[in-house]
Amino acid sequence: MTNRLRLGVNIDHVATIRNARGGDHPDPVRAAEIVAAVGGDGITAHLREDRRHIRDEDLARIQDATDLPLNLEMAATEEMLAIALKHKPHAACIVPEKREERTTEGGLDAAGLHNSLVPIVDRLNEAGIRTSLFIEADERQLDAALRLSARVVEFHTGEYAHAIIDGDSERTAKELRRITDMAALAAKNGIEPHAGHGLTFENVQPIAAIPQIAELNIGHYLIGEAIFSGLEPAIRRMRELMDEARG
Ligand code: PXP
Repeated sequence: MTNRLRLGVNIDHVATIRNARGGDHPDPVRAAEIVAAVGGDGITAHLREDRRHIRDEDLARIQDATDLPLNLEMAATEEMLAIALKHKPHAACIVPEKREERTTEGGLDAAGLHNSLVPIVDRLNEAGIRTSLFIEADERQLDAALRLSARVVEFHTGEYAHAIIDGDSERTAKELRRITDMAALAAKNGIEPHAGHGLTFENVQPIAAIPQIAELNIGHYLIGEAIFSGLEPAIRRMRELMDEARG
C-alpha cells in the first residue's frame, strides 16, 4: 500500500449555497475543477434522497468536467443503486441517511443491515464500482464489511472531532485509538481504510498520521474556509497538513 494519503474533497456544500437561491451559482462543477487544478485526488458528492445539495444532473456534469475519480456517497436504496449503476462513479460509499438529520450522524450499521446490503454491494461490485462502507471504527462493523466484500471502509471521524470540540482529551485519545486499531485491522484483512467527517485544519493531523489510512474525505470545513481564503488555498493548506503528518 502506498504511503501517500489521498484527499477527496466533498463539494456538497457548494451546492447547498447554490440551492439557497435556486439559481446556478456557485456551481459545484467549478469547485470540482479547482480541486483538480490544485492536485486534489478525488471529488466526493452525496446525492441525498431529498436532493438538498447535489442534484442528479450535477453528477454527470462533475464527471464530464474533470478526470478525477468520483466518490458517490449514497444511501442503500434501489433508487440510489440505479443512479450509481447509470453513472458508474469510481467509488460508491454507502452511508446511513435520515431525512431529518443535518448531516450524516454516524456510521452505517453494516452488521445489522447485512442482508439488505448484500444485493446492493454485490451489484456495485459486479459493475466494477469500488464499494465503500461508511462505518464506525468498530470490529463488529469491520467484520460485516469484510463479509459483504466491500473493498473500502471509511471510518467515521465525527465522534473524534466532537471529543476535541468538547475539550475531552480522554475521549479524544480513545476515539483516535479505536480508529488507529481498526485501520490496522482493516489493512491486515485486505480492505482499504479511509476516514472522514468533521475534519479540520486543527484535528486532521492525528488521523492523517495513521499509516494505513489511504484517503480522507473532507468537505464542510474546506468549503467554509474557502469563504475566507478561497478554495484553492484551503485545499493546499489541508494538503500540507496531511503531508506533514505523514512525514
Ligand atoms: N465522508 C462521508 C461518508 C460523509 O458522509 C461526509 C459528509 O457528507 C464526509 C466524509 C465529509 O464530512 P465533512 O463535510 O464533515 O468534512
